[in-house]
Amino acid sequence: CGIVAYIGHQAAYSIILKGLKRLEYRGYDSSGIALYGDQVTSFKRKGRVAELEAWTDPITQTATVGIGHTRWATHGEPSDANAHPHKSNSGKLTLVHNGIIENYASLKQELIQKGYTFESETDTEVLVNFIEEIQKNNQSSLEEAMRIALKRVVGAYVIIVIEEGFPNRLIAARKGSPLVIGVGEGEHFLASDASPIIEYTKQVIYVNDYELAIISPDEIILKNLGNEPITPYIQQLDMELAQIEKGGYDHFMLKEIFDQPASLTDCLRGRLDSENMTLTLAGVEQHLSVFAQAKRIVIVACGTSWHAGLVAEYMIETLCRIPVEVEYASEFRYRNPVIGPGDIILAISQSGETADTLVAIERAKEQGAFIFGVVNAVGSSIARLSHAGAYTHAGPEIGVASTKAFTAQLTVLAMMAMKIGKAKGTLAEAEYNRLLGELALIPEKVKTTLATHEAIKEVAKHYADARDFLFLGRGYNFPVALEGALKLKEISYIHAEGYPAAEMKHGPIALVDENLPVLFIATKDAYYEKIVSNIQEIKARKGKVIAVISEGDTLIRSMADHVMVVPEVDELLAPLISVLPTQLLSYYIGVERGLDVDKPRNLAKSVTVE
Ligand code: G6P
Repeated sequence: CGIVAYIGHQAAYSIILKGLKRLEYRGYDSSGIALYGDQVTSFKRKGRVAELEAWTDPITQTATVGIGHTRWATHGEPSDANAHPHKSNSGKLTLVHNGIIENYASLKQELIQKGYTFESETDTEVLVNFIEEIQKNNQSSLEEAMRIALKRVVGAYVIIVIEEGFPNRLIAARKGSPLVIGVGEGEHFLASDASPIIEYTKQVIYVNDYELAIISPDEIILKNLGNEPITPYIQQLDMELAQIEKGGYDHFMLKEIFDQPASLTDCLRGRLDSENMTLTLAGVEQHLSVFAQAKRIVIVACGTSWHAGLVAEYMIETLCRIPVEVEYASEFRYRNPVIGPGDIILAISQSGETADTLVAIERAKEQGAFIFGVVNAVGSSIARLSHAGAYTHAGPEIGVASTKAFTAQLTVLAMMAMKIGKAKGTLAEAEYNRLLGELALIPEKVKTTLATHEAIKEVAKHYADARDFLFLGRGYNFPVALEGALKLKEISYIHAEGYPAAEMKHGPIALVDENLPVLFIATKDAYYEKIVSNIQEIKARKGKVIAVISEGDTLIRSMADHVMVVPEVDELLAPLISVLPTQLLSYYIGVERGLDVDKPRNLAKSVTVE
C-alpha cells in the first residue's frame, strides 16, 4: 500500500491525489482521501486512484490538511468499504495504514465485546477503534493513546491519524513500513517514499521504527514510544522529477528497459575506471577481511532480486570459492536457519522495503551475522539496517515488473565477486583485468541489444496467444530462464515456467507438443553444445523453439522457429545481456494482449507485508 498526507497552506486534495498516483505501483485495488474542512470528510473508491477524481465536493478546493491511501488488499477484498481511510466509531479519528496488524482478530473480539461495530473486514478499522478505546478509557491525548496502542499491536505498520478538533495536526507512527517526511516552508508532506514529495521539496526526514511524528504546518516533533524527543535528521534528496516520469514512452516498463544503458553506466560510475583498469566498491573494500574470511555467504531476497541472487551464486563460487546459498527470504526467516560466525547475509532488494527480506535480515542480525545490502532505493529500510552495502544506482523503478533494477543488481554482484576474488587470490590478476575490460563494454552491448526491439516485437506477435511457455537455460543463463518466465507471467498472465535446460527431460518435457513455445537462452558459453542437444529434443517432439542466441550463431538459427540475437559476452556477464530480449518479449506480448503492463493485476511493486 502507499500513503500520502499533507498539512500546510495549499489545497491538500490535489497534492494527495497526485502523490497517490505516484505511489500506485505499491498497490492499486482501491484508494481514498480524507480532508479536514469544517470537519473530516472522506471519499473512497474501489479501483484505481483515478476514481478519486470523481470527488467534486468544494472541500477538495479549500481543505489544507488531508491523508490518502492506495491499497493492495490483505484483509478483505478490494471494495469501497475496505478502502482507507477508516474512521473510528465515534467519528473522532480517521486513519490510513500501510502494513498488517497480525493480532487484529483478538483485538477485534475485545472491541466487539465493548460494543464496537465494524463496517469493513480490515485490520485497519480494528486499529483505529483500538486507539479510540484507549483514548476514551485513559482520558488520554491521541499521542499517548497511540503510544499505548502501538505497544500492544503485533505486526508492521505506518499509520497517519487525523483527530476531529485538531485541524492543524497529523500524527504518524511507523514500525516496519516506510515513511518519509518532506520538509517545506509552512507545510509538510508525508509519504511511503519520496516520489510524491520531490516536486515540492528535497529536504526529507526518514522516520525510524518505533517513532512517532507529530506534525503541524510549522513544526515536526519526533518522539520514541517511550515519549522521549528525538532530533530529526534532515537529508537532501538525490532524485530528480524527470526520473519518476514516463518521458515520452508508452509505459514505465518500456522506459525502464530502454534506460538500461544509462542506468548501468550510473551503476558503474565512480567504481569502474577502464582507462586505469581500477575497480572501487567502497562497501566491500571497507570490509574486505570479513569477505575474505567468510565461511559462507547466504543470499536472501524475493522475486526478481532472488534471481539476481542465483546468478551471484555462480559468480561468487567461481571467482571467490566461497560457498553460497540462495534463499527465499520468507522461507529462510521461518526455518530457524543455522547462522554462525563467519556467515555473511547478502540481502538483495530493489525497494529496500520488502517485508520478507527485511524481517529475514533483522533475525540474522540478532544472531550476529554480518549483513551486506545490495539495494536500489537510497535510504530505504534494508539499506539502513545493513552493516554495509553497495547501492545499485539504477534510479527509481516504477514499472511493477523489475527490469533495470535486475541488471544493475547483476552488475554490482559481478563487481563484488571480482573484488573479493582478487583480494582472496582466487581470481588471478590477468583474469580480473580481462573481466574489468568486459564489464566496461556492457552498457554499449545493452544498447546494441535493445536496438533489435522491432524484431522482438515481431516475435511477440506470433506468441501472444500462447497458453503456456517454457523457459530453459543452463549455467549462468539458468536464472535468466527463471527471470524470463517470471516476467512473462507478471505482464501477460500466460503461464510460464523456467527450468534448467537439462532438467527438462525429468518432467516438463511431458508438456511439449506443437502448441508449446519453448524459449531457450542459448548464448555461446561452455554449455553451448549441450543446449543444442536440448533444442533437438524439443524439436523432435514438435515444440516451437524461440532462442536467444549470440551474434553469428548459424546453427541454432537454422533449428529455431524464431531467434533473438545478442552480442557475444563473457559467460559470467552473459545474464546482463541475455535477459534483455526476454524483458522486451514479455513487454510486447503484454501490450499485444491489451494489458496494463505497468500495473499487472494482483501485484504490487513493493510488498511491505509478510
Ligand atoms: C515484488 C515485486 C517484484 C520484486 C519483489 C522483490 O514482488 O513485484 O518485482 O522482484 O517484490 O522486491 P525487492 O524490492 O525486494 O527487490
